[in-house]
Amino acid sequence: MTQRRILVTSALPYANGHIHIGHLVEYLQTDIWVRFQKLRGHECRYFCADDTHGTAIMIRARQEGRAETDVIAEMSESHQRDFAGFHIEFDHYGSTNSEANKERCTEVWKALRDQNLVIERDVTQLFDPKEGIFLADRFVKGTCPNCATPDQYGDSCEKCLATYSPTDLKDPKSTLSGATPEVRTAKHLFVTIESFRSFLSEWTGQDDHLESSVANYLKGQFLGKELRDWDISRPAPYFGFEIPDAPGHYWYVWFDAPIGYIASTQEWCAKHNQNLDDWWRSDQTEIHHFIGKDITYFHALFWPSMLKAAGFTLPTRVQVHGFLTVNGEKMSKSKGTFIRASTYLEHLNPTYLRYFYASKLTPREDDIDLNLEEFAQKVNSELVNKVVNLASRSARFVADTGLSDAYPDDDGLFENGAATGEFIAEAYEAKDYNKAVRLIVGLADRANEYFDKMAPWQLKKEGKLDEARNVCSVALNLFRQLTIYLAPVVPQLSTESARLLGTEIKTWDDAKTPLVGTGVQPFKHLLTRVDMKDVQAVIDASTDASTETAGASAATSDDSGDALAAEPIADECTFEDFMKVDLRVARVLKAETIPEARKLLKLTLGLGGDETRTVFAGIKSAYEPSALEGRLVVMVANLAPRKMKFGVSEGMVIAAGPGKEDIYVLSPDDGAVPGQRVH
Ligand code: MSP
Ligand code: ZN
Repeated sequence: MTQRRILVTSALPYANGHIHIGHLVEYLQTDIWVRFQKLRGHECRYFCADDTHGTAIMIRARQEGRAETDVIAEMSESHQRDFAGFHIEFDHYGSTNSEANKERCTEVWKALRDQNLVIERDVTQLFDPKEGIFLADRFVKGTCPNCATPDQYGDSCEKCLATYSPTDLKDPKSTLSGATPEVRTAKHLFVTIESFRSFLSEWTGQDDHLESSVANYLKGQFLGKELRDWDISRPAPYFGFEIPDAPGHYWYVWFDAPIGYIASTQEWCAKHNQNLDDWWRSDQTEIHHFIGKDITYFHALFWPSMLKAAGFTLPTRVQVHGFLTVNGEKMSKSKGTFIRASTYLEHLNPTYLRYFYASKLTPREDDIDLNLEEFAQKVNSELVNKVVNLASRSARFVADTGLSDAYPDDDGLFENGAATGEFIAEAYEAKDYNKAVRLIVGLADRANEYFDKMAPWQLKKEGKLDEARNVCSVALNLFRQLTIYLAPVVPQLSTESARLLGTEIKTWDDAKTPLVGTGVQPFKHLLTRVDMKDVQAVIDASTDASTETAGASAATSDDSGDALAAEPIADECTFEDFMKVDLRVARVLKAETIPEARKLLKLTLGLGGDETRTVFAGIKSAYEPSALEGRLVVMVANLAPRKMKFGVSEGMVIAAGPGKEDIYVLSPDDGAVPGQRVH
């Protein structure tokens, strides 16, 4: 087998938040792949870093009265502690706020300038005179210019879904200082991404760089029309790197963040006497980026363009995973399912989560659900009962004698396991861990059947000690085979298992040769069962008391009148006015997320028979699509169709609440049917 050189990255976590179990889908997916490649004997390195720049960090530092560098140092330490707690092992973990990153950014920038790919344009934005900064859209709130709903964000209205520029908002206020923003114009620098379009069209469609669904999404959403120039500078003040040839202007965080992949490699190279160009300018090196679906276009459009311009190696593969849901819903602070990595670790063994995620992960970008009952059940019935118990049941019979001196006849089980190893390897290679785990559990089933059939405890009773020893030697060798195959997923369990048998796991091919004549250490518990009490403790510790009362039950008991005061009753209208609005009962036939849209869900509503309507509803922050499908809602059926960025919206779904997570879709009582009018 020829040794491959493989560079692997995970997305760089933002320094303004803690690592949670959603992030861990990605870092575990990556770590498993890296461990697999290393076990196969390849030269594989895993690089990551904290993503430190941008407005959010700057504002947080201001609010806490600290230097940004202080905040990011603390967060980097915390992130790395969390990762280590889950046995995620980087070859190097850097920071985007490093000398190496500044150097590489400067290099890419120079290449863009030299090729005339940067243009300058004025951008008019709202400016907070009190804080002295330009306000990103989500830092401005005001009254919707379209429907006059108060308290709407700077880019779009949650009530009528109009999109607009923050300068169009009525009575705008800075959410940072409460000050009334001023309109100011500043110079911004843009990269002309359109120049890369033919290259990108080719690259995205080629050589398995992307899963085909991802490639199709890019083709459909972006590559079919002119690509917009990419605004990659921000005027001072901004926490980031000042652009060398544009004093007073800084690179936008999404420019310097991916370059952090190269910078992290560079720091590792410096420590290990390696040449950066062997890793980033060599057709001998594979580059695999693991990312979540929300950041696809940064990695599949902008990033390859930057690499191409600067003459770096293009990614071999951009691997996109889906989002985590817990018990079928978006992680929620009020439900205690927004679980920090550190909180999990206080109560539960990281091996459990590593195993569970592996059993769910495929190369596709489907969302992954952590159903907590299933989590406990799966870990207990598969990892503990089928794998670990195989060892605990057999080890005690051979504690004194050790394994048989010649490998006994085992009905071909070990050989079959060795042969299956290649299929398991193929599944890991393809990032289909779900399949790898299924194959491994299949082998475990066969091993347990053998053990139960041979009943060594019975043999022992009958005085057939050699036979009992043989059966247990087979069982322990099959167990060892399983733990080698599982080593990328549950490295700690595998290491301890090897120790039990007086050996170490060095390579994947160790699974091809059985152990004979070796001693067996006194058995100690390798892994205990998941206890639902501990799972509950995690939920309790994650339940945010301040939001605990949010949600339907609390809403009905808050009769304070605050809601009415926030939005007084509108001007009187006539019955005829009211009757102009045709409200209908509709069934949600389909609810889909649009990865690019922060707030919108795409709903297909059925009015009975074949009548359907497509409606884009700003309820993504409050509802998981799967929770909506099948239920009845009330829609405005005769609203003029409205062309939106993602398609035409043919109506509106009626909902209460101020927005964000506080949105409550109305439903009719039982008995109503789609198509009925609401009067
Ligand atoms: N800083 C950017 C990435 C820059 S890469 C040059 C960023 N950071 S993040 O902290 O928000 O997310 C880091 C990674 O975790 C992303 O790939 C993101 O998709 C992933 N996830 C964050 N929340 C997630 C879930 N709830 N579920 C699955 N993955 C999630 O984006
Ligand atoms: Zn509006």
